[in-house]
Amino acid sequence: MATASEGHVSEEKFCKLLPKVELHAHLNGSISKETMTKLLARKAHLPQDQQPDTQALQQWTDIVENGKAVSLDACFQMFKLIHQIVDDTEAVAMVTKDVVREFAEDGVCYLELRSTPRDVPQTGMTKRSYIETVLKAIQQCQDEGIDIIVRFILAIDRRNSLEAAEETIQLAEDYRAKSGGVVVGVDLSGDPKVGDARQLIPLLQKARTAGLRLALHIAEIPDQEAESLALLNIPTDRIGHGTFLHPEVGGSQGLVAATENHSIPLELCQTSNFVGKTVASFDEHHFKYWFDKGHPCVICTDDKGVFHTTLSKEYHLAMMTFDLSRKQLWQLSERSIDFIFADDDVKQTLRKHWTNERSKLQL
Ligand code: IMP
Ligand code: ZN
Repeated sequence: MATASEGHVSEEKFCKLLPKVELHAHLNGSISKETMTKLLARKAHLPQDQQPDTQALQQWTDIVENGKAVSLDACFQMFKLIHQIVDDTEAVAMVTKDVVREFAEDGVCYLELRSTPRDVPQTGMTKRSYIETVLKAIQQCQDEGIDIIVRFILAIDRRNSLEAAEETIQLAEDYRAKSGGVVVGVDLSGDPKVGDARQLIPLLQKARTAGLRLALHIAEIPDQEAESLALLNIPTDRIGHGTFLHPEVGGSQGLVAATENHSIPLELCQTSNFVGKTVASFDEHHFKYWFDKGHPCVICTDDKGVFHTTLSKEYHLAMMTFDLSRKQLWQLSERSIDFIFADDDVKQTLRKHWTNERSKLQL
């Protein structure tokens, strides 16, 4: 795990040295520029009409690097493009190893990666080989001594069928046992405008009963009160985004009450929400609403590659926008340990590490 150095350091450096927990990171959204270059090089031999749209990728990078907001639809176009490039197990292995290493280099000590198992008949990749490749890459990172604990969450894409969701949950149950607890849960994500997640409730309840934990994207866009309430009341174990839960943005007191009654932590991704234009400015981010209430908040990246961010940058952004002290950032990162899906032994290991690091950061 990353070790804090002594002495006075800048706020940026402090955020990097701060030991951190990342609980909301989509594998294919987390691909760095460097890894993208390697992935594109693997496609260079293809005829022109089968080449990935590098121009679209470049345009996106230019816009996001300049700190501009785009739209949620444009974000989903990017994922489509990335999936065309990450289309075999070799690419999945490369991406997983690079992403895990990059999070570790950013001072992340515990990472929950999530990804949608995909099959690509043209390359022979199946959902099972996809999952096994990710698990093997995580193991290789550990064998190579990369100092980070990683767990894996299987994602259901809400654009896909009920049968596909059922299959993902079955795979999660299966690999939870086979992976010795590396697979810890199920995510629900994908374009929030598509489908109604209420149809998935019995499946998600079944998954939870089987011991899987739920990290569901909820209220990412406005006007989803009934769906959001049903997902909150499963209850989900964590909320992805929760941007439109509270009444000030068109949510409701009922949604806030459900979130508070079940004490469900929120995974908050500031840059992602700004670029996707679901929040108009950083200071209007719902972090403030929930943080001021003392409700469990976990700062996360969502898609560090697509949104050109890091977890350190997200902590720094919260610090600058909401005028948080170093001690408050420390408390945020330390409290995040309470909300991980790994077992109590891992929580104890992490808490010990935080205790060791604290004095080095002069807190
Ligand atoms: P993958 O599951 O590893 O392929 O990561 C990319 C996928 O994550 C996308 O295709 C979406 O389904 C999902 N995803 C990433 N970011 C978001 C988000 O902000 N909202 C909803 N879904 C997302
Ligand atoms: Zn997400």
